[in-house]
Amino acid sequence: MANILAPSLLAGDHAALGASARVVQDLGLAWLHVDIMDGHFVPNLSFGPETVAALRRNGISLFLDVHLMLSEPQRYIEAFAKAGASLISIHIEPAIDHADTLRRIRALGCQNGIVLNPGTPVSAIEPYLDQVDLVLAMTVQPGFGGQPFRRDVLPKLTEIDALRRQRGLSFRLEVDGGIDLASARECRACGVDTFVAGTSFFRAPDRRAYADTIAAL
Ligand code: DX5
Ligand code: ZN
Repeated sequence: MANILAPSLLAGDHAALGASARVVQDLGLAWLHVDIMDGHFVPNLSFGPETVAALRRNGISLFLDVHLMLSEPQRYIEAFAKAGASLISIHIEPAIDHADTLRRIRALGCQNGIVLNPGTPVSAIEPYLDQVDLVLAMTVQPGFGGQPFRRDVLPKLTEIDALRRQRGLSFRLEVDGGIDLASARECRACGVDTFVAGTSFFRAPDRRAYADTIAAL
């Protein structure tokens, strides 16, 4: 599976989000990661469906990887799908009907994803692996950009990749949080193919070289 770099809009310029997305699109990258926070599941706030709609209206045609850090994601998937999300991922931790929500995301015409926090065991997401397009393993406690990479998550990446092989599944395996060229390389060695990078991408002195390095890992 070819590596994908998904720069995180959270690390972009919040007064000029369209311009930050345009930087990614003009580099010829395919994906943009969009973090949605509710101030409840995570102690921070970020964007809403209108942000996604406005990106689309402003000519952003990137694959929008929308990461819902919400206590009640099932209430918002339709709004994000209508706004132009390409993929919608939901966390396993809130007690909601995950199977139904994942099904509904696909019925709305989007790809779906399941997300687990650093402290959540792989066993929690196992029942859903055959129903998802993407598994996102958080490599920080979600809520804020710029946190240090959690190396203790590496064994879980290997575990998810092994399950993928054993079951002949083809979901993408994505990491998010503290990703830079060094941590991305460690994750690649554990089977990761999709890399969210906020701070390290937007602050890279040469973003093209950064993207090329991820592609070649
Ligand atoms: C963290 C978010 C991340 C964040 C990553 O809660 O889910 O997507 O943007 O930022 P960096 O790459 O700076 O750790
Ligand atoms: Zn994210």
